[in-house]
Amino acid sequence: MDVLNVDDKNNLIKAAVEARQWAYAPYSNYRVGAAVLTASGKIYDGVNIENAAYPSGTCAERVAIYKAVSQGERSLTAIAVVTSNGGWPCGACRQVMAEFGLDTWVMVADHHGNILKEITVSDLLPACSRRTPAYRWQ
Ligand code: THU
Repeated sequence: MDVLNVDDKNNLIKAAVEARQWAYAPYSNYRVGAAVLTASGKIYDGVNIENAAYPSGTCAERVAIYKAVSQGERSLTAIAVVTSNGGWPCGACRQVMAEFGLDTWVMVADHHGNILKEITVSDLLPACSRRTPAYRWQ
């Protein structure tokens, strides 16, 4: 799966909108739904999951990506992120997205499913390589 058609986009946005109802955000009340389309053509959704110890919470994008990766997926074709106001993914999520595809198509939508922004991961996180040899693992 490489090329995204209109149906793929709509299905992904719909999955993120539907997932958003399960956001666990009692502290911020900022509900986020996400969905990733993998190279194998499957969709995995996710929501933000907050915690009383605030930093232990996790963004919706990373939940969706980790669900996909833990099922054996390694390549992301697209990701949809749905919020009330079309907020951008955070820096940590951009870094995690980059690990599984610099060409991944990112769609930011509101909770009605209106796409507000579309961009690649490499444009979201410029000057980043998937596997920069910044460290030597030895
Ligand atoms: N959040 C996400 O899930 N994704 C984003 O792209 C931005 C922020 C979550 C984290 C936290 O649960 C809440 O939104 C407020 O920051």
